[in-house]
Amino acid sequence: MRAVVCEELGSVVVTETKPVEPGPGQVVIAVEAAGVNYVDGLFVQGRYQIKPPLPFVPGYEVAGTVAAAGPDVTAPAVGTRVLATCGLGGFASRIVVPAAAAVPIPDRLDAGRAATFTQSYSTALFALRERGALRDGESVLVLGAGGGVGLAAVQVAKALGARVLAGASSEAKRDAALAAGADAVLDTSADDVKAAARAWSDGGVDLVYDPIGGDVADPALRALREQGRYLVIGFASGAIPSLPLNQVLLRNRAVVGVDWGAWSMGHPLEQRALLDELLGLVESGRLEPVPPRTEPLENAAAVLDDLLNRRVVGKVALLP
Ligand SMILES: NC(=O)c1ccc[n+]([C@@H]2O[C@H](COP(=O)([O-])OP(=O)(O)OC[C@H]3O[C@@H](n4cnc5c(N)ncnc54)[C@H](OP(=O)(O)O)[C@@H]3O)[C@@H](O)[C@H]2O)c1
Repeated sequence: MRAVVCEELGSVVVTETKPVEPGPGQVVIAVEAAGVNYVDGLFVQGRYQIKPPLPFVPGYEVAGTVAAAGPDVTAPAVGTRVLATCGLGGFASRIVVPAAAAVPIPDRLDAGRAATFTQSYSTALFALRERGALRDGESVLVLGAGGGVGLAAVQVAKALGARVLAGASSEAKRDAALAAGADAVLDTSADDVKAAARAWSDGGVDLVYDPIGGDVADPALRALREQGRYLVIGFASGAIPSLPLNQVLLRNRAVVGVDWGAWSMGHPLEQRALLDELLGLVESGRLEPVPPRTEPLENAAAVLDDLLNRRVVGKVALLP
């Protein structure tokens, strides 16, 4: 089998690795697509809070077909199309996961979209509804709306009945957000974010969804209406902002932390219910996940570089 291996921090190589076999309670997935997430880039750079020992195979999530199952495994059966989150090891032609982590996927979800689904869409639903208490008819400013978690948030917010203003730095990303269902867009590299968001929402938005941090955080906080909620998703800009608490006090606003990764690991049954709900929305056609750009496994280094340097619109999947 082949895998992308990080032998020293900052770089990856594609190489032949030892074939994997399923142990008790495990299945082997023949990987058809591996989703690339910002966190994969952070792992390889050694900039993530968890630092796996070298060498390691990055790759947080995959989709494919169950190729073999441990002796005691009753489901999913060999041949079932599944997705799985694995944390590490996904950038490979095969991977072993616990059988319970291999989730059957609807026929209408191809491997590329399935492999780029769980992290982005779960984060969006967990953040907007569970943490942000988004209600039907409310308005949301989604920052980084042309990126992975941002584009998913645009779609999930629309599926929840919200009005969405999508902020992104390039025309290609803003077009992607509009195609994903955003009602309007703003240019975060040129527009006055506070003024534009307040004008669009008649005085202030109900929610801000912020995966970027940095300089845009302050004007986005000030764009919130009375009892507005600011969802702290991530710091893709590289800068963790300090928010003025007087702006939280004013208008009875709230700043709400979102750590879907830790929550999903600590609450696996609730995460499975969340994922099943999202897959149900896909099956019924209410959620139409955006197809990723696809690249061969050999291009993993270039893809990670693109992702960490703001050059990706939507998601990328590696095809082993
Ligand atoms: N809290 C959670 O549970 C959770 C879950 C998943 C991911 N995250 C975090 O969310 C963030 C975004 O993840 P993602 O998968 O959406 O990444 P992504 O696809 O690369 O999108 C990130 C967006 O951030 C913006 N950005 C601004 N400055 C940037 C810079 N200097 N470098 C790179 N991007 C920059 C870019 O949009 P513009 O060009 O439009 O500015 C880019 O499209 C990451 O920090 C990730 O760790 C958090």
